[in-house]
Amino acid sequence: SWPSHTLCFLVFVQVLYVSGHQKPNILLIVADDLGFNDVGYHNPDIYTPNINKLAKDGVILESYYVQPICTPSRSQLMTGRYQIHTGLQHSVIFAPQPNCLPVDEIILPQKLKEAGYTTHAVGKWHLGFYKKECLPTSRGFDTFYGYYCGAEDYYTKQVHANFHFGNKTRRVSGFDFHDNSRTEWEANGTYSSYLYRDRAVRIIKSHNSSIPLFMYLPFQSVHFPLQVPAKYIKRYRHIKDRKRRTFSAMVTAMDEAIGSVVDALKWKGIWQDTLVVFTTDNGGQTLFGGNNWPLRGRKASLWEGGVRGVGLVRGYGIRDKGRSSNELVHISDWFPTLLYIAGANASGTKPLDSYNVWDAIANKDVVSPRVELLHNIDPLFTRPYTPTPKLIPYPNKHGVNTTKGHAALRYKHWKLHTGDPGYDKWDLPPTKSYCNLSGMHTNTNSKYKSTHLVPSVHLFDIENDPQERKNLAQIYPKVVDLLLGKIAMYNKSAVPINFPPYDPKSNPSLHGGVW
Ligand SMILES: *[C@@H]1O[C@H](CO)[C@@H](O)[C@H](O)[C@H]1NC(C)=O
Ligand SMILES: *[C@@H]1O[C@H](CO)[C@@H](O)[C@H](O)[C@H]1NC(C)=O
Ligand SMILES: *[C@@H]1O[C@H](CO)[C@@H](O)[C@H](O)[C@H]1NC(C)=O
Ligand SMILES: *[C@@H]1O[C@H](CO)[C@@H](O)[C@H](O)[C@H]1NC(C)=O
Ligand SMILES: *[C@@H]1O[C@H](CO)[C@@H](O)[C@H](O)[C@H]1NC(C)=O
Ligand SMILES: *[C@@H]1O[C@H](CO)[C@@H](O)[C@H](O)[C@H]1NC(C)=O
Ligand SMILES: *[C@@H]1O[C@H](CO)[C@@H](O)[C@H](O)[C@H]1NC(C)=O
Repeated sequence: SWPSHTLCFLVFVQVLYVSGHQKPNILLIVADDLGFNDVGYHNPDIYTPNINKLAKDGVILESYYVQPICTPSRSQLMTGRYQIHTGLQHSVIFAPQPNCLPVDEIILPQKLKEAGYTTHAVGKWHLGFYKKECLPTSRGFDTFYGYYCGAEDYYTKQVHANFHFGNKTRRVSGFDFHDNSRTEWEANGTYSSYLYRDRAVRIIKSHNSSIPLFMYLPFQSVHFPLQVPAKYIKRYRHIKDRKRRTFSAMVTAMDEAIGSVVDALKWKGIWQDTLVVFTTDNGGQTLFGGNNWPLRGRKASLWEGGVRGVGLVRGYGIRDKGRSSNELVHISDWFPTLLYIAGANASGTKPLDSYNVWDAIANKDVVSPRVELLHNIDPLFTRPYTPTPKLIPYPNKHGVNTTKGHAALRYKHWKLHTGDPGYDKWDLPPTKSYCNLSGMHTNTNSKYKSTHLVPSVHLFDIENDPQERKNLAQIYPKVVDLLLGKIAMYNKSAVPINFPPYDPKSNPSLHGGVW
């Protein structure tokens, strides 16, 4: 039902893009657990000159959303599909679980290969590895260099997991670092952002420039454990909070690696033809040095602090560089957007939940095609680290059980939460004192203490209240009703959760000490 002149215009743009230039190289950088307040262009206390330079030369996405934890974000990035449609709506994939991003999903590097790209993944996978078909090199990546699990030691590459047998807990450990199908024992002892930098630079330098390059660079940084070479700490000696000090230094170490990768692209003479996307995978974990101020909540919550992400795009066709965009963009949108940039299409995929947002990013005045965003529906959600509060049910005609797990949906400027959105405080960075922020309320809102009864439905006007301070559910019951109806509709399309128990056969001691 497109008017015919619109169709003509779209076709024209597409042709111009694809045949008028060589296909751009794509550098897709993912930082792990980098919070909203953990990047230099949001917070001058963090030193990220290279990321800031990318932002100056591109567009900062300020209404950019990711999923609240690792596996879900990465699954949506790779498929353009919501996690309720891949069975990954609950938690992450833990090392001993026989689970992965379903192998019948067609993922980004597969489509880019079809479009003529060489495809490399350097860094963290975390989309499952229990059988060969799950591995990145079985799924469209020409090469993979890095680790499969969610968290490991930055030097020794050891991953630990706790098995529970009745009352007994047994800790199992193994090495997790791979160069394609080979276990890369040589990685033991070297800080991971150095390894990823060196591999990315090597790939770029030996790349055949007449072929378009797709480099997926998901850093381990800055996920816990908090580890960094001493030299990066110097700049942050004044920070008293030990975790924040180390964390800040880890961000700077990653930023330096990004600078080296950019230098390699320049050396190679392909920087002008390279599109860079930089994204976090979820909000910062304030227990381990991250920070999302001024946003509420943290990693694993559906508050803005968990899902409003750091993101930017640099290069290739961006007009009016150095601006910020408030157009709604979600991590799943990279799938159709990058396919468009690459002159590929989504043929053969399952139905996408995402939009090609390229025009809205590249041009100042174009609005995003996305007006709605399902943050998630997870009926099994419980809070990690802190007890889940008692919730007051909200009877409704849509049959949504608002006290079960949690769900959240964005529609235009509205955001609705049901259930327990998760850790609900506004954490200042440990470097700031409360008295420096006169007029700003932080954690003084006693209504939300987790021991009290709390509402199971929250409605916020996110555009005017990005801190999620004023619950408007009582004032706008019709909006609540509309959004609950949408959640009920999405929930009908959800596939069953796949969250299998730990498999004892996964124990690394049965596999030469390797995950
Ligand atoms: C667990 O420990 C409790 C208390 O020590 C004991 O009563 C119970 O039988 C144990 N259960 C199992 C499965 O070992
Ligand atoms: C990693 O290196 C350390 C120090 O040399 C050594 O003790 C450890 O056994 C090595 N780990 C593996 C898995 O080889
Ligand atoms: C680079 O790729 C082009 C196109 O596939 C090919 O013709 C050329 O031989 C390659 N160059 C090298 C040095 O491999
Ligand atoms: C989509 O891409 C495939 C594979 O590159 C190609 O064969 C097909 O013609 C394309 N379809 C459309 C509608 O462009
Ligand atoms: C979604 O559907 C599941 C399974 O039918 C149900 O358990 C859950 O309560 C529903 N969640 C919502 C938010 O409606
Ligand atoms: C909603 O879900 C909670 C948690 O699973 C359950 O205890 C409660 O009975 C459910 N309420 C209704 C009305 O089904
Ligand atoms: C907070 O305010 C005090 C007093 O004005 C000032 O000395 C201090 O540097 C400020 N701290 C930060 C981290 O801005």
